[in-house]
Amino acid sequence: SLEVPIPAPKGVPILGNLLEIEADVPLNSFERLVDTYGPIFRFTTFGQTRVFVSSHELVNEVCDEERFTKFVVAGLKEIRNGTNDGLFTANYPGEENWAIAHRILVPAFGPLMIRGMFDDMYDIAGQLVMKWARQGPNVPITVTDDFTRLTLDTIALCSMGTRFNSFYHDEMHPFVEAMVGLLSGSGTRARRPGFLNSIPTSENAKYWNDISYLRKLSQELIDARKNNPIDKKDLLNALILGRDLQTGQGMTDASIIDNMITFLIAGHETTSGMLSFMFYFLLKTPSAYQKLQEEVDRVIGRRKITVEDLSKLPYLTAVMRETLRLKPTAPMIGMHAHPEKNKEDPVTLGGGKYALHKNEAIVLILGKMQRDPKVYGEDADEFRPERMLDEKFDKLPQNAWKPFGNGMRGCIGRPFAWQEVLILVSVLMQNFNFQMDDPSYDLRLKQTLTIKPEGFYMRATLRHNLD
Ligand code: HEM
Repeated sequence: SLEVPIPAPKGVPILGNLLEIEADVPLNSFERLVDTYGPIFRFTTFGQTRVFVSSHELVNEVCDEERFTKFVVAGLKEIRNGTNDGLFTANYPGEENWAIAHRILVPAFGPLMIRGMFDDMYDIAGQLVMKWARQGPNVPITVTDDFTRLTLDTIALCSMGTRFNSFYHDEMHPFVEAMVGLLSGSGTRARRPGFLNSIPTSENAKYWNDISYLRKLSQELIDARKNNPIDKKDLLNALILGRDLQTGQGMTDASIIDNMITFLIAGHETTSGMLSFMFYFLLKTPSAYQKLQEEVDRVIGRRKITVEDLSKLPYLTAVMRETLRLKPTAPMIGMHAHPEKNKEDPVTLGGGKYALHKNEAIVLILGKMQRDPKVYGEDADEFRPERMLDEKFDKLPQNAWKPFGNGMRGCIGRPFAWQEVLILVSVLMQNFNFQMDDPSYDLRLKQTLTIKPEGFYMRATLRHNLD
């Protein structure tokens, strides 16, 4: 037969390949394994195998929804403890609540609804501008922290109708603290053998307390809205009032809570990491910075930005796409053979070349795939937004740019994040000149469920007095 074995690093008993992985930034280790073993390799921990793919050709094959679908594994499987069959952590097929929530919420993330969130997004962007203006050019900005404040406050205001006011406090809002507990706890739990997660340690108790707190607070926000209905086109109203046309059902309170927590989790770190990487790349690439500045000055100038401006910023759009190409902030996604549609066992990849077990997890390493020289050429590692202008972007091969995931299980929040970033970056470029705090800084990563720059500081100088 044509079949060849899938390359695999040599392991040790029990741990398997675990020792190959650095604890802080596993992504770095997986990318190094790609350099050693190529675009497909099998990786084993505690007897469980996963197959990692990272070339465009293989990823393109796995994106075929007739054969493969999302698989909730690793950290995501643990987050399910807090969000159950909410959109992000639901298994599909099989979980009916996913389908109901999907049908109700897709329109809630449609263009008209997102435009309706312009004012709330602009409001929070204004708070960041005020903070940096008052702080002045002599104080280094902890970029990722302030962008995280922004994305948290924006998603909380738009999806739960509540203000975290993160720019007015140093300590985190209790909801955020509990959510960070859920996220970091899930990461820890995913990295150790399962039996350690069920013994009654104070660490495990805190994890479950954080989850009950998140659910209790979400329930209070739902009750508050139900008791004091307002006529606002926001996500909370969509969750509470939305009806599934197919079944006539609304969402249960439990499912609403699952999805409120989901939006907060899925909607803040990804976008905040994207903003941080964008400023890193812009400051490292003065020509791109300059072109972006010229575009914002030409299209918007000093007047207040409007929703109509957002579609007239092609260079900014290209900068955003190029940032997510090089640094997709949700860097790895889990798939497997579709449990209902797939009939093969073993499942084959690479035109019959590789054999996988039908239940085996397949992990897509998006950043590597999006630097595949067969698609992006020899300068694939360089930040060059020009390659992402519409006329080029529209001609990319299928599935060559996947920072928002795949098909039905792709990101529902994409238009939300896109508008939020367009508004914020425009407003920041209107008001400030930015500099790297330490011009010799080179990108280092911090990884949780998502990636962001570690130790990245910049300075902001007002371009003119605030109007
Ligand atoms: C799903 C990326 C912003 C909500 C996903 C997936 C990716 C992704 C890769 C698929 C995950 C998987 O296959 O396991 C991003 C990036 C963002 C972003 C890069 C920002 C730059 C947002 C925002 C929200 C959101 C702002 C909410 C307002 C969701 C939800 C899902 C999802 C609910 C699950 C959809 C489903 O399976 O039905 N996102 N996301 N995301 N995202 Fe996002």
